[in-house]
Amino acid sequence: MTIINVDNKDYEIKNNYKNILEICLSFGIDIPYFCWHPILGSVGSCRQCIIKRYNNRDDTIGHLIISCMTKVKNYDFISTKDKESLNCRSKIIELIMINHPHDCPVCEEGGQCHLQDMTVMLKHNSRRYNFYKRTHKNQYLGPFINHEMNRCITCYRCIRFYKDYAGGKDLGVFGSSNNIYFGRLMNGKLENEFSGNLIEICPTGVFTDKQYSMHYARKWDLQYAPSICNGCSCGCNINIGERYGKIRKIENRYNSKINNYFLCDRGRFGYGYINSVNRNRIPYINNNPIKSIDLAIDYSADMLNTANRIIGIGSPRASIESNFALCTLVGKKNFSNGIEKNELECLQLILDVLYKGALPSSSIIDIQYHDIIIILGEDITQVSARIALSVRQAAKRCSFNIAKKYKISEWDINSVNNISNGYKNPIYIFTTNKTILDDIAYEKIICTKKEITKLGFAIASFIDHKSPKINFKSFNNKNKKILLKFLNNLRCSKRPLIISGCSLKYSLILKSAYNISRAFKFLEKKGSIILNSNESNSIGVTMLGGKSLNWAINKLITNKADAVIILENNIYRRMKSSSVYNALKNKKIILIDYQRNITFDNANVILPAATIAEGNGTLINYEGRAQRFFKVYEPSYYRTGDLTKESWRWLHALNIAKKNCKLEWIHLNDVIKVCSKYNPIFRNILKLSQFKIKLSRLPHRFSGRTALNANIQIHEKKSPKDIDSKFTFSTEGYNCSEIAFAWYPGWNSPQAWNKFQNEVGGNLYAGNPGIMLINNCNKKNELAYYNNNIKYEKNKIWQIIPIYHLIGSEEHSVSIKKPYIMISKHDINLLKLIPGSKIKAIINNLELNIIIKSTNNMRNGIIGLPCGIKGIPVESFGMCFNFIIKK
Ligand code: SF4
Ligand code: SF4
Ligand code: FES
Repeated sequence: MTIINVDNKDYEIKNNYKNILEICLSFGIDIPYFCWHPILGSVGSCRQCIIKRYNNRDDTIGHLIISCMTKVKNYDFISTKDKESLNCRSKIIELIMINHPHDCPVCEEGGQCHLQDMTVMLKHNSRRYNFYKRTHKNQYLGPFINHEMNRCITCYRCIRFYKDYAGGKDLGVFGSSNNIYFGRLMNGKLENEFSGNLIEICPTGVFTDKQYSMHYARKWDLQYAPSICNGCSCGCNINIGERYGKIRKIENRYNSKINNYFLCDRGRFGYGYINSVNRNRIPYINNNPIKSIDLAIDYSADMLNTANRIIGIGSPRASIESNFALCTLVGKKNFSNGIEKNELECLQLILDVLYKGALPSSSIIDIQYHDIIIILGEDITQVSARIALSVRQAAKRCSFNIAKKYKISEWDINSVNNISNGYKNPIYIFTTNKTILDDIAYEKIICTKKEITKLGFAIASFIDHKSPKINFKSFNNKNKKILLKFLNNLRCSKRPLIISGCSLKYSLILKSAYNISRAFKFLEKKGSIILNSNESNSIGVTMLGGKSLNWAINKLITNKADAVIILENNIYRRMKSSSVYNALKNKKIILIDYQRNITFDNANVILPAATIAEGNGTLINYEGRAQRFFKVYEPSYYRTGDLTKESWRWLHALNIAKKNCKLEWIHLNDVIKVCSKYNPIFRNILKLSQFKIKLSRLPHRFSGRTALNANIQIHEKKSPKDIDSKFTFSTEGYNCSEIAFAWYPGWNSPQAWNKFQNEVGGNLYAGNPGIMLINNCNKKNELAYYNNNIKYEKNKIWQIIPIYHLIGSEEHSVSIKKPYIMISKHDINLLKLIPGSKIKAIINNLELNIIIKSTNNMRNGIIGLPCGIKGIPVESFGMCFNFIIKK
């Protein structure tokens, strides 16, 4: 235990590896700072955190120190309030502000600006410098981020995040002395998948949110709710900000196990679908808008009562509650979870591994502490980006271990980087195409999915002879060498990690990944496994059970079912369009969705579903962690006649109308209670909603509340009530437990998080929201090794692989990319094609007008097609087809 005396008060410290700034902030003592960041460490460039240290209790003179660059020692005597350090800090802020444009009233950072907060904290309020300010030109940085370089205070946080932490290559620092420029070499979109974090990293308004700018409202004028990103299966925590029934921005919500301080750009900017003017906000019957819930429900119930057999198609993007409500309505034997069969096979396997696997699933933050990682078949940055950011940190982690030997603290990031000389932990990547993480790969192999599988099985069998064997002779020399290298590295490793997933929809890859994890256990390594699922609730809906989408389509095509309820699922994106079209032809269709998709025009009844911003519900991420998202606003409060409801409410209403029984589910928890009887694993979700006090959705300074609806009625409209959560639609209530927005007196920027953590960078006071449904440590009947039964096609035909993009490959974002086909250079020459030209090609009997792209990073005989882009036949992914070019 270390004792530190700050401003004449003794504090006990458990973590004496932290610097004095971090320690003081953890005790709630405000010291101004700019360049330090809990994750990026200290570089001592801004000097704003200067305080005074005394040699002992009797020392009355002391000396100034940079608190972020100073280790704590036992019986340290510190003053943050003595005259000399106060004076020094006020001179520093004056210097920092010399070139700053002082444009707070028109700056979008105003009201959430760390520079503003620190300037106020330091009481700097008058300007003595009367000369010209240094000015810069701004750059176009793409659709997400605005650039206003004159506001820069040269703290270097942006570059330390973008380049050093996130691996970005296209943001740099140019110039010298007091003329430093942070930008790109030339105008252009920031390429890194985490560029949006610059908005929160930059302590002033240099990088601001361009999307937010298009419908801007001050931070304190937004209504917030804690939510979960539904962009992928990571389950990153977010706060959604709304005003006038429109989502204005998404902020990172700190979770020490998942996203920590950072989100990917899909999660931060991918909310346009919620605001879409195309959304259906009232029911439709046979394409006619209906203004009555009762009418829509009665009509639907009558329609269902005349059907011979109703099936339900659920969704991996809908909440557990909504999927369960559908399952209850149609019955277990008629419920499909809406997932294509190959993907479902992968998900069922993932669930088996979660329940009974040899090693635990790693949380995103824990990934960083593994010392060797092998990735099989995934371009993880494009499918679950936050995992990839942690893999990047794992590669760099050995720097910290080297530094530790020299007693260099982790926060002393420049020393850490210098001493480690860029040495990285080994990352092995075996994929079908190049990946964003290739720059940190120690070794990579580009091959077919079957070869990846073989390599996986081979590794497992090398480690543990009980694992099914693979003929080593069939590998080429290069691959043999890489495998041997991996085994060598593994010998020195303490914590290996294997990552694979559903991207290629090939369960054998997952089986080989599992075998590797089991072999790690055989070596008695404290390893982990991540088997990634693609969508926000893929694991949740698989836990519920249900049959594949193929089963449902088959039942409809063969007329074994004549009515179908489709829940939040654009099934055209999952299966061959013509099969889906034939399946839905002349059927009774009820569609419950918030997106206007292709099924919309053919449905008999359309019921407007709430998005993640308009409803409460539960999602389960890739590791089996259940998390609640909360309604940000009540749609009918702003739009009279808006009949948007959570899907489970529509489905339950339909169920009771159909069966002519009494309403049973009023609260969200009523659904989960019944669901827990169905599968006890869900029982713990109830713990997520226990609350005694109310928390506010509106910041205390929210303005114009009484006038929000003044254009409709001058009397203030009664605030709606949220019967399912602890959050009020008002400023009443506390705001410091499950945080709807990061704000604390004097701390208006995202730096306010330090006021809600046990220690800076540690857990939140009330613990992380969410609950693990599967106990990783208590596994009975451990899964045995999977058999290697890879089948090979005899004829040489083309194999189609999906290429994922962060924006455009999932259902909520629209890609501006044109359909393209990626072929190896060798095959392009063989087929006499010209890269960049457009061709007509036939794949699986489907004619495509498509642009040719050439690559050095794909095996011959493989065709890459972008996943999620309109016009691309999804059913072809992972299959082998003839590829015919039409002249
Ligand atoms: S742009 Fe922002 S983050 Fe980068 S150095 Fe300037 S003030 Fe710091
Ligand atoms: S990694 Fe996934 S869950 Fe996290 S912000 Fe990105 S899309 Fe959302
Ligand atoms: S925060 Fe300590 S020098 Fe910048």
